[in-house]
Amino acid sequence: MTEFHTDVFERRNFFSHEAPPRTVLAPMEGVVDAMTRSVLTALGGIDLCLTEFIRVTTQLLPEHVFYKYAPELQNDSRTNCGTPLLVQLLGSDPACLGDNAARAISLGAYGIDLNFGCPAKTVNRHDGGASLLKDPERVARAVAGVRSALPSTVSVSAKVRLGFHDKSLHREIAQAAESGGADWLTVHARTRDEGYQPPAHWEYIASMRQAVRIPVIANGECWAPDDVRRMREVSGCRHVMLGRGLLARPSLAREIRGGHELTWPESLQLLRDFYLQSLAARGESFASARLKQWLRFMSRESSSTTDTTRSSVSGTQQLAREVFDRLKKLEPIRLGDLECLSTRVNDVDELGKSLQANVVHGVT
Ligand SMILES: Cc1cc2nc3c(=O)[nH]c(=O)nc-3n(C[C@H](O)[C@H](O)[C@H](O)COP(=O)(O)O)c2cc1C
Repeated sequence: MTEFHTDVFERRNFFSHEAPPRTVLAPMEGVVDAMTRSVLTALGGIDLCLTEFIRVTTQLLPEHVFYKYAPELQNDSRTNCGTPLLVQLLGSDPACLGDNAARAISLGAYGIDLNFGCPAKTVNRHDGGASLLKDPERVARAVAGVRSALPSTVSVSAKVRLGFHDKSLHREIAQAAESGGADWLTVHARTRDEGYQPPAHWEYIASMRQAVRIPVIANGECWAPDDVRRMREVSGCRHVMLGRGLLARPSLAREIRGGHELTWPESLQLLRDFYLQSLAARGESFASARLKQWLRFMSRESSSTTDTTRSSVSGTQQLAREVFDRLKKLEPIRLGDLECLSTRVNDVDELGKSLQANVVHGVT
């Protein structure tokens, strides 16, 4: 009996008031796959991950679909270093969402998250993602459909935006998720129409948090530790979800807990591990394309206006940036290119010499 209660507390109270401040790795379709989750969670500071959204229409999806999006199901729904993984579903039919959620749980999923934020036109046209935000009652029904299909020990959560066209229903949206039975709510602080345009409107998260009793996780536009601090301050939320910022600055989650920023050898090691895992899973052209995608995120300048933690770019970071820029131009990037770099650049002085001599394999 005691054990049962412990489990309920662990999963459904993951974000309870007693829990320490948590950091969640944002789901990102076409970007945050099992390999990305594996290398990012290994760096430390991430408490929970989600799969990319799995689209549910009218059918019970076969098991292989769940394993494709969540290979971690074979590992007790945890990444290699033990971080739990939620399966995220996107759909509108409460019964069908419930059936698919029950299947994911039967395969071992840690919990279920429902996507009410996807802005894609094709998804919205087919009545999924953010389109349900136009009618909060539908959010409530979808959450309730999933809650009633699952054992009481596992969590159901919802990820929403502030509205579809405008923000007028933001409080109703939060209340709908709560009344449907969500254990917590993640808010990406923009409307669907705002897409990914800065700024994120963290003050609306505060308003939603005040409208419900369930924990609220704040999300949107955090690129540096100082952004996270300000988002916490403005939203009043202790728990945060980080997406693009974690790809641009992979140590962001551990930095907000006092850890150090990724060094150049660590960055290279991370990219090499990621490449090797992607290569093993999907072959060279996939691994090369995904590595370039990640390098593009990494070379993005911080959009933060108050990034006091990075007031000057260090010489090492500058060198790293130059190498990454060269790497991005390779077609495809081969394992040898990374091996060549790793043997040369464990020492920053060596890296400097390598760059000056233009000896990054295959690039001039
Ligand atoms: C390429 C991309 C794919 C995304 N895919 C998903 C998804 O599958 N499910 C979801 O709930 N949100 C998805 N999002 C939204 C992110 O989870 C997050 O809410 C958004 O990027 C804002 O957070 P950030 O500023 O920290 O990146 C995606 C965002 C991007 C940029």
